[in-house]
Amino acid sequence: MKFYKRTIRDVPIAGKTVLVRVDYNVPLTDDGKVGDDFRIRASLPTIKHLLKDGCKLVLMAHLGRPEGIDPKFSLEPAAQRLAELLGEPVRFVDKTTGEKVRMAIKRAPKRSVTVIENLRFNEGEKKNSEEFAKQLAKDSGAQYFVQDAFGNAHREDASMAAITLCLPSVAGLLLEKEYTSISSAMKHPERPLVAVMGGAKVSDKIAVIDEFVKVADRIVIGGAMANTFLAYKGVNVGASKVESDQTETLDKIYADAEKKVGKENVDEFLVLPMDVAVGKLPDETKHRKSVMLADISADDMCLDIGDATAEKFADIVAHAKTVVWNGTLGYAEASAFAKGSEVLAEAMTSHGQDSIVGGGDTADFVLHWDKKKGDSFNHVSTGGGASLQLMAGEKLPGIEHLLDA
Ligand code: 3PG
Repeated sequence: MKFYKRTIRDVPIAGKTVLVRVDYNVPLTDDGKVGDDFRIRASLPTIKHLLKDGCKLVLMAHLGRPEGIDPKFSLEPAAQRLAELLGEPVRFVDKTTGEKVRMAIKRAPKRSVTVIENLRFNEGEKKNSEEFAKQLAKDSGAQYFVQDAFGNAHREDASMAAITLCLPSVAGLLLEKEYTSISSAMKHPERPLVAVMGGAKVSDKIAVIDEFVKVADRIVIGGAMANTFLAYKGVNVGASKVESDQTETLDKIYADAEKKVGKENVDEFLVLPMDVAVGKLPDETKHRKSVMLADISADDMCLDIGDATAEKFADIVAHAKTVVWNGTLGYAEASAFAKGSEVLAEAMTSHGQDSIVGGGDTADFVLHWDKKKGDSFNHVSTGGGASLQLMAGEKLPGIEHLLDA
């Protein structure tokens, strides 16, 4: 699928100073190190491409949601991790704009990387301030802006929107890959297309479920979200958390599904668990007990799909040509209740299907599960909210503002 925006391959960027927006919003450990470098690794192809072209790179990003300047949210640990991954020095400036930034970038040689401090230390970032964007463009001395922060592409921030008024703006290779992988699976999939939906809440994913009802051939549903569907169908789900205010949403989902596949086929189209693995949170999450729906007791919490359901879902996924997975199928933090997600991940990577994994918790899970750090899948998204919005067919400001192809 062709990308509709210009990328770093489409402009004469060689030898230029380039301001690159990356998403280094990564978890930090208590001793201030990067806890998970997935997003930093994902930024390497663009950085290496630009370095090969002899560019002087100025990287900018945000970390956390600081209120003003707060050293706890410094990007320095991310810059250090980037240096380790690149195997070459990365300069870090503890300011976002101003004389210190100007001088550091002026002194930096061609073919170098400088990371500037957390954009959210300046209130202009969240306000999409043109003033702040102008300052970033001016102080970096950049001739081009490259957008590669897919994980933040749903935010209308200064480094996503206003900056594109100041510099010719093109996409990086990660942004392009995220867009083409997710959009082609949603818009031009090899069929059958199976959507796997999980995670905690129906209410967080209504737009995505609606889109899948339109485009998917089958949807399998697990995770805590499945409890809301089961309860809606009249199943007693014991002490499980249920979103009882989502009845209208589910009425609409089922009405749309019935319109698409016919009432008699709806349960084969929207596939719910036929058994569940139960525990008794918060005390009992070590032992897995798989029970049929009729055998759920009042103090049971459904914490994973059951063993028979895992097999059924794996079989459905094995016969798909495209699988898009969004949300773990159980309480995967506890190993006993990660089984459903593990069986699914195995099925999704063993039959040569196009396999796309949404970001956030699902990406965390597969990166932990996969011995090849995510490479067993065709694409593991770095975006949480951004990948959900893209799957739902919504436009993302971080993409829309770039130069058209
Ligand atoms: C993310 O982690 O989803 C992005 O980096 C956006 O961060 P935010 O939710 O704090 O805006």
